[in-house]
Amino acid sequence: MTYRIAHIPGDGIGPEVGREAMKCLDAACGKFGLKVDRHDHDFGGDRYLATGEVLPDSAVDELRGYDAIFLGAVGHPGVQPGIIEKGLLLRIRFELDQYINLRPIKLFPGVWTPIKDKGPEDIDFIVVRENTECLYSDVGGSLKRGTQDEVAIQTAVYTRKGTERCVRWAFDLARTRPRKKLTLVDKSNVLTHGHDLWQRVFKEVGQEYPDVTKDHAYVDACCMWMVKTPEWFDVIVTCNMFGDIITDLGAMVQGGMGVAASGNINPNGVSMFEPIHGSAPKYTGKNVINPLAAISAAGMMLDYMTSAEETSGEVATRKKAGQAIETAIMSVLGAGRIPDLSAQSGLHTDEIGDMIAQQIADLPA
Ligand code: IPM
Ligand code: MN
Repeated sequence: MTYRIAHIPGDGIGPEVGREAMKCLDAACGKFGLKVDRHDHDFGGDRYLATGEVLPDSAVDELRGYDAIFLGAVGHPGVQPGIIEKGLLLRIRFELDQYINLRPIKLFPGVWTPIKDKGPEDIDFIVVRENTECLYSDVGGSLKRGTQDEVAIQTAVYTRKGTERCVRWAFDLARTRPRKKLTLVDKSNVLTHGHDLWQRVFKEVGQEYPDVTKDHAYVDACCMWMVKTPEWFDVIVTCNMFGDIITDLGAMVQGGMGVAASGNINPNGVSMFEPIHGSAPKYTGKNVINPLAAISAAGMMLDYMTSAEETSGEVATRKKAGQAIETAIMSVLGAGRIPDLSAQSGLHTDEIGDMIAQQIADLPA
């Protein structure tokens, strides 16, 4: 079969890191004999400024026809904050029902972490962030806007269905990992309606997973443990807003935005993969941003995408190709070939992409 991939390079450095990610995707697919049919789409800030349109309705329908979507980065200094974020990123997440936002927090060998005395054996967990509800549901409104009497209401929405499908997916994931541990992160001591639902769903669904160790942390304490004892965590499941916040902390714990990747997953539909970092406009076109987060997201894409047409053999091959990308990143970093992940490293975006692509080719088959 041929995998149909939509590539949205986006704004700022998005096109540069996306190009390297696609280079490595091609290297992995070439090595494992996978066929990819890729289409570029120019959605993002520049198109919005030129046309006044972020994402035409027809585009959302077109995106539904792919096997997966790869997004470089969005965010444009000339566009008011919120327009592209809501009109493109959140719209795709919601309309394609990508209800899982999967964010691995894994310290690769050779990468510096600000957490003293912790190494790759201590920092290896994964956050399952609910991706369609919570404070992101856009329910609310304001009264007397701009006056001293202004009232602003922004409501967190949790549904039984939305909570349950996310918690269940997290339990399924925990079951596949050696430590088989799932921690629910919430604020159920204060959000005694919304997060009480999460608590009850976690307990109920958990009964179907006697083999998974269950744990709980309030979100504030979770931030503390992520820094103090990150080795306690294996899989974390949490709501959309808390997942957003703790995964930026997680990105720093794993060595910075330069390595953090994520997948917006619809387990029965079209998923979208992206680096966690933004579009870093001031570095646009300078060829200095390290593309590892985007390359890693391409690896996640091969690992976690789904296609209705695949045979089980094809699924296994695709996952091997995804693993190869991660292995290549780990061996290049482990060998100390990218000692500095920042824009000041002196290494160029395309050089790093070449290094990883070459390493993929050189891996034993
Ligand atoms: C992320 C981002 C987005 C979010 C923004 C850009 C809307 O911060 O992917 O974590 O809040 O989900
Ligand atoms: Mn975020």
